[in-house]
Amino acid sequence: MADALEARVISALAGIQNPRLENDLISSGMVRELEIGADGRVSFTFLLGSDDPATLVRAARSAVRAVDGVSEVKINVTNPTAPARSTHGPPQSAGMPAPPTPMEQPNLGRILAVSSGKGGVGKSTVAANLAVALAEAGFRVGVMDADIYGPNLPRMFGIFERPPVRDGQMQPLEAHGVRLMSLGFIVERDAAAIWRGPIIMKIIQQFLRDVNWGELDYFIVDMPPGTGDAQLSLVQSVHVSAALIVTTPQEMAVGDALRGARMFERVGVPVIGIVENMGPFTDPTGRRWELFSSGGGLRLAEELGVPLLASVPLEPGLAELADAGQPVLVGAPDSAAAKALRTAADRVREELGTRPVALPILRG
Ligand SMILES: Nc1ncnc2c1ncn2[C@@H]1O[C@H](COP(=O)(O)OP(=O)(O)OP(=O)(O)O)[C@@H](O)[C@H]1O
Ligand SMILES: [Mg+2]
Repeated sequence: MADALEARVISALAGIQNPRLENDLISSGMVRELEIGADGRVSFTFLLGSDDPATLVRAARSAVRAVDGVSEVKINVTNPTAPARSTHGPPQSAGMPAPPTPMEQPNLGRILAVSSGKGGVGKSTVAANLAVALAEAGFRVGVMDADIYGPNLPRMFGIFERPPVRDGQMQPLEAHGVRLMSLGFIVERDAAAIWRGPIIMKIIQQFLRDVNWGELDYFIVDMPPGTGDAQLSLVQSVHVSAALIVTTPQEMAVGDALRGARMFERVGVPVIGIVENMGPFTDPTGRRWELFSSGGGLRLAEELGVPLLASVPLEPGLAELADAGQPVLVGAPDSAAAKALRTAADRVREELGTRPVALPILRG
């Protein structure tokens, strides 16, 4: 069955000519890493040279979509002659899938995905406070909840209004100097839980494209937990400049974080570093508490060959502040956690500021 489908897909692609090479897409080797899932999902890498017409990608997509038995088509467009993206991680080996198709969003500035392999480690806390720290430092910052099944940002920023629509365009809300967008502003609690992946993807793409973000220096995306398909396709739908991985110091959480980091590496998004959260803290009497075994952040950083950007201590009272709409940077600006998060923001600036983000802009 699958083989027959593969044959039909190949023959559809072989029916498209590249005028430059006077050859079809298959014979000319422009299609690589063709994968066909049992459920009819087709993905492949498309090597589109600078001189090739970009319309070939659209033609390939329509042709494959029209094949009987195909449910979804995902194309990673790459330029075979473009320089490889810089990354702290190991270089991409030949067998790895090519980087995702980047989407042009220059107004968003540097796009940083804050992620982890595991839920509840502090992604939203780190994302929210990084955003506030960058805004305090004078940058224009947007932050988006990509965690549509459990949006945390509205509560963390203490806003629950509906975003206003002006001139037919949704305006982000603003709190603590940061522009915000979350599905939590738009739908009733729990409503998103009944939606299927493709709808969610569309909404996120609209958040990126159709929300009037204005000109930003940094755009921070609070990712959902895990390393499933949804996260992967999200990363592939927009050109993400870099990912930051949050982990707790425990061994097990580190294993999850490692998987999370590998996912980004696989799609060519550089991991700029690790933020360890809920690390050891010193109470007012000077006693040091380690609720979790320590050192996981550093271990993970070493394993990935990326820097440990900061270790954020467990901060008694942080959760209460967050629930009251006060990121710790605002609610307890002199706390050890706030200082560590500010350090993380400085390191993010250093890492992202020096990194070229321009990539060939191609749209399938
Ligand atoms: N350093 C810290 N000290 C104390 N509490 C913290 C710290 N970091 C996060 N928390 C609290 O831990 C809980 C989980 O944090 P958060 O919501 O940021 O995690 P998450 O990774 O985004 O979770 P989810 O996977 O559910 O989206 C929250 O109640 C938050 O306030
Ligand atoms: Mg969260």
